[in-house]
Amino acid sequence: MATRKKSKGKGKAKAASRKVVKLKSKSAAAKKRGGNGKSTSLPKPSTKQYGQDGKALSGVRILDFTHVQSGPTCTQLLAWLGADVIKVERPGVGDITRGQLVDVKGADSLYFTMLNHNKRSITIDSKHPQGKRVLDELIKACDVLVENFAPGALDRMGLTWEHIHKLNPRMIVASVKGFGPGPYEDCKVYENVAQCAGGSASTTGFREGPPLVTGAQIGDSGTGLHLALGIVSALYQRYRTGRGQRVLAAMQDGVLNLCRVKLRDQQRLKAGPLTEYSQYGQNIPFGESVPRAGNDSGGGQPGWILKCKGWEIDPDAYIYFITQAPVWQEICDLIGEPSWKTDPEYATPRARLPKLKAIFERIEQWTMTKTKFEVMEICNKVDIPVGPILSMKEIAEEPSLRKTGTVVEVDHPIRGKYLSVGNPIKLSDSISEVTRSPLLGEHTDEILKDVLKFSSKDISEIKNSGALSAPKKEEKAA
Ligand code: COA
Repeated sequence: MATRKKSKGKGKAKAASRKVVKLKSKSAAAKKRGGNGKSTSLPKPSTKQYGQDGKALSGVRILDFTHVQSGPTCTQLLAWLGADVIKVERPGVGDITRGQLVDVKGADSLYFTMLNHNKRSITIDSKHPQGKRVLDELIKACDVLVENFAPGALDRMGLTWEHIHKLNPRMIVASVKGFGPGPYEDCKVYENVAQCAGGSASTTGFREGPPLVTGAQIGDSGTGLHLALGIVSALYQRYRTGRGQRVLAAMQDGVLNLCRVKLRDQQRLKAGPLTEYSQYGQNIPFGESVPRAGNDSGGGQPGWILKCKGWEIDPDAYIYFITQAPVWQEICDLIGEPSWKTDPEYATPRARLPKLKAIFERIEQWTMTKTKFEVMEICNKVDIPVGPILSMKEIAEEPSLRKTGTVVEVDHPIRGKYLSVGNPIKLSDSISEVTRSPLLGEHTDEILKDVLKFSSKDISEIKNSGALSAPKKEEKAA
């Protein structure tokens, strides 16, 4: 039998939830009295230096059942924000990405390491009776279970909402799935499937070409971000209600949320052609659906990608140039067309709309005489919004990104030093440090002992059962 100490956290959390309810009524009473709702029961502002008083999610423990990209993106963010993330992996194999796109023989791939920083790893066969025993204890000891298995997989492990909620009514169960309830709810989904089903692919690319997927992982990482917000919100609500809830982020929904401007344009079609799309200026009729807009700007200010000096040999010698109306005069001066400032054929945004292609060609004659960084410098001095097309090489070497911790160098015991993207969300009182991803099962013993408080006898029993280790080769063959 397990000799686990009763979690002290539970009692404390209950008290915290009672306290919040009390504070709420106090604040309502204060408002009634015309006060500002300030309560003396609220903690006094910390006197510690900013960044020295714990992390935003200190004390939150996550049972991380995620794999591949969408779920791990979410739990990595929560780990950076201070949560203790315990990643459960299948013995012997682990997250499948450990062995995908391998660049250093014998080391976890960058695919895995770059999505699993700041986590601990425990290996458990979730279908083994002793594995289930460990999982049940983890459910009791954690605040949030995050998973992105294929639909139904968690239930098939016996981890139904009812089972989890009975063991720990405070637990939040958060899932990424490909689709929400409906005709496709049982489908397995990867990044590009979501980009297609969420409306991104049909609106990306050039009008005359096929639909395109984007390099930004809006289906996987984008949905992971949505899920993280859902989890933090559920934790906040739990302070008031004292109970957990289910959180679902469907990849189709996440992509569509990021494509909402295109659903906006779909409805605007009823009112006539979309004048900011360059096909309008080229007299090409619109159909029933939002067309692909190439590099047209998504907002009301026309923009396009233009060649810069060196474009013949450098595939990234380009700049995004926006002909924002308030700086039209400055643009005309820069490109050597001062008469366009007053010429009625060019002076107003409306007059320019049908001529945008020719206007951008003229601007490009100028940008081709400068490097993208020169264009950036010259234009920004006069507030013309432009964006150099940065290659991944340039981003990796950019000193300002290193300085802010957005690009970090991480050391790994097997692969050595590698670059990663750090936490893009900067909190002034919860500073993220990026620590390396765990080796497979690196923290199994530590978690059984320190988190779950199993006795040495219990640990031996569980280990000898084979629930935490890969089947031996001979056994496999037999
Ligand atoms: N112990 C024992 N079994 C385990 C285990 C463990 N620790 N961890 C996972 N498994 C099992 C699962 O229970 C499942 O078994 P079952 O099918 O018999 O129930 C099996 O491993 C495979 O899980 P599954 O999620 O189906 O993996 P997959 O590789 O076949 O599919 C995805 C991968 C990503 C397509 C699928 O998980 C999915 O659609 N997820 C939701 C959407 C998503 O997140 N997609 C983006 C991924 S970046």
